[in-house]
Amino acid sequence: MRKGSRKDSQVKNILCIGAGYVGGPSMAVLADRSPDKKVTVVDVHAGKIRAWKGANLPIFEPGLDKIVKRTRGKNLFFSTDIPGEIKKADMIFVCVNTPTKAFGHGAGYASDMQYVEKTARMILQHARSETIVVEKSTVPVRTAQAIERILRSGATEGKQIEVLSNPEFLAEGTAVRDLEEPDRVLIGSRETRSGKKARRALADVYEQWVDRERIVETNTWSSELSKLTANAFLAQRISSINSISALCEKTGANIEEVSRAIGMDERIGQKFLRAGVGFGGSCFQKDILSLVYLCRSYGLNEVADYWESVVGINEYQKRRFVQNIIEHMFHTVTDKRIAVLGFAFKPDTGDTREAPAVYICKRLLEEGARLSITDPKALENARTDLEGIDQDVTYERNVYKAAKGAHALLVLTEWKEYQALDFQRIFKGMEKPAFVFDGRNLLDPAVLAKIGFHVVPVGKQEKGTFPLIDRSES
Ligand code: UDX
Ligand code: ADP
Repeated sequence: MRKGSRKDSQVKNILCIGAGYVGGPSMAVLADRSPDKKVTVVDVHAGKIRAWKGANLPIFEPGLDKIVKRTRGKNLFFSTDIPGEIKKADMIFVCVNTPTKAFGHGAGYASDMQYVEKTARMILQHARSETIVVEKSTVPVRTAQAIERILRSGATEGKQIEVLSNPEFLAEGTAVRDLEEPDRVLIGSRETRSGKKARRALADVYEQWVDRERIVETNTWSSELSKLTANAFLAQRISSINSISALCEKTGANIEEVSRAIGMDERIGQKFLRAGVGFGGSCFQKDILSLVYLCRSYGLNEVADYWESVVGINEYQKRRFVQNIIEHMFHTVTDKRIAVLGFAFKPDTGDTREAPAVYICKRLLEEGARLSITDPKALENARTDLEGIDQDVTYERNVYKAAKGAHALLVLTEWKEYQALDFQRIFKGMEKPAFVFDGRNLLDPAVLAKIGFHVVPVGKQEKGTFPLIDRSES
């Protein structure tokens, strides 16, 4: 144990404001790993809280159900009484959403901080003395300072509220594992005595299940900026490999071979080199745009342009995928049925925020296609995303039904179960020529081509009996 750390920390009552994809799983794991703490999660959304209390949790995450069931009612609680819970808390995690601003100054780039600010004001009004506020939502650099200024404004006289930055690095679909065995836990604070004391109190909470060496303590701004930078770097790798996938299609190189070859260089590493239809999810685009906004606001225009191009390539990749479909299907998809396999932004989640499928489906609908969408977990969200424009969409749980009568299959999420499908049976029920546009390089083109499909992967040569399009000259 680190010298001076107090395992008997006074932190007993932990509160989390925001019961979403970050707040819910992270507090469930915290409660599970810290039986001596009482953990309460609150949200303004009463329906969400009801769902967290019920049999069907509001989000799907492998392994989460089990953890919530064994902690709920013991030391994990859900509530809508935000002021009442703030009053009781020693430590408050802020896990509210910070979407890209859709209006006004900074629209399309800056993060919308209204929920964070409302939360800070609520804390200011109700918190008791010596509360530690932990900013977990991804926020622009220097947000902690803004929160602190609100919390230290006149009304807090006599209260000692410390604000820490503790960004969450969990990825959806693997949230439980990421939380139980994090690569690192980052805690930022002011370099003052009280700041460091609060930082230590939070480190003690994590030390109940995370090795001390994995807990990184920094100043607040480094912590905030590290989160944006980590996401920007990860997204940059995907855009880099996707940009090369376009070149592979022209030259006859194979993106999987290229990824493997470069990934064996230890300096590059193998992860996050899968080419596809582009990255989605609530974080990458939002965080890069927030970084871009930050750079521009400091006059760092070249830096801003550099990072913005990562989002530019992602958009290009999605556009390119749709163009490819239309070109291959004889320049028209009007009135053609297209089966969409996978709508979630990645497998093992029902989340569709910024999913490439949203853009791709909208574009195909504009072109007059009829879509049958299937996804093991994301059909409800797909319905919401396409609300108002889905007259020509059917939502199917069953993949075989979705594929029946279709001219093409699009693989947009690499759900493992799609690899086990009976493609012979699917082929029989489809219009001919039957196309597969594999946006995730999930399926074996040789096997499908043998059945009779015409297969168009990403960054690899297409395969099929059908005359191939010579893309080298286009
Ligand atoms: C990401 C970060 O990984 C996580 O650390 C952070 O806390 C939140 O943002 P998440 O968005 O949940 O997590 O999923 P991630 O696994 O990073 O995937 C994001 C997107 O990139 C998905 O659409 C995925 O399909 C895509 N991706 C990922 C690729 O296209 N290729 C790859 O090689 C890896
Ligand atoms: P994330 O992926 O960052 O967890 P979510 O949108 O899944 O984002 O979750 C954020 C949650 O924060 C939502 O459930 C939302 O209702 C909640 N929230 C937003 N503002 C407040 C607030 N002022 N008080 C309590 N909860 C809030």
